[in-house]
Amino acid sequence: MIKKCLFPVAGYGTRFLPATKSMPKEMMPVVNKPLVQYGVEEAFDAGMTDMAFVTGRGKYSISDHFDISYELEAEIAGTGKETYLQDIRHLIDNCTFTYTRQKQMRGLGHAILTGETLIGDQPFGVILADDLCINGEGSVLKQMVELYRQFRCTIVAIEEVPMEETHKYGVIAGEEIRDDIFRVDTMVEKPAAGEAPSNLAIIGRYILTPDIFDILRATPAGRSGEVQITDALMSQAQKGCVMAYKFKGRRFDCGSVDGFVQATNYCYENIYKSRK
Ligand code: UTP
Repeated sequence: MIKKCLFPVAGYGTRFLPATKSMPKEMMPVVNKPLVQYGVEEAFDAGMTDMAFVTGRGKYSISDHFDISYELEAEIAGTGKETYLQDIRHLIDNCTFTYTRQKQMRGLGHAILTGETLIGDQPFGVILADDLCINGEGSVLKQMVELYRQFRCTIVAIEEVPMEETHKYGVIAGEEIRDDIFRVDTMVEKPAAGEAPSNLAIIGRYILTPDIFDILRATPAGRSGEVQITDALMSQAQKGCVMAYKFKGRRFDCGSVDGFVQATNYCYENIYKSRK
């Protein structure tokens, strides 16, 4: 039903310096797989096959990762090591990968608008690969596609966070119309302590309807000179067109060192060891 998934991967990843000085944050491996591959696998699990990336300077290793590596593959052909490339080969064989560059880092909203040329006029998924989501049965984006089928409007994934951490997120409020599903009526980007309308924080998974592009074009840059996706979503929410979904599964903030280490430990114990 939704074929395209957008990956904004242009950010500088300053919280991970110096590791991200010349390496994209999205290529950092959680155990033996780069973050961005977890994201593409999630989109594929949700039925999406057109992977669209908004990249920036110094991000070539992402496009190299989703391409054949002839020398390496010839070298290990016929050996037991071929199995290490099985999953990535499956993605390469079954998906398309397109890229455009965000010339200036003007925020997530601006990155998504930059992706319009790859998406066109259709609903699409968005994955922020530094939010790693793990769920045994049915990826988080797959759960969201199911909801899109029912509501045909923008869906954002949310998670309860401690009140003292709401300043790191876009925070929603709205009516819970069903277990774990809210019709959003308010959204605030990174609310100051004590000003959050709830503790329901938006995480890096969205299904967006294509009217978001016109809204983003008309959205002025906020405080930090960045175009915030939350501001554009708020304008959809005012028309009753945004649902928030408390997803099933675990999410790790791999843009932070703590979250990245937790994800690594979790994936080593629960995924890597069981496949060895
Ligand atoms: P972050 O807020 O995590 O920013 O962006 P960042 O630059 O990646 O990391 P820090 O905060 O400096 O450590 C959230 C997502 O939006 C993308 C990032 O690549 C990341 O996936 N993004 C952000 C863009 O693609 N372009 C932007 O201008 C900003």
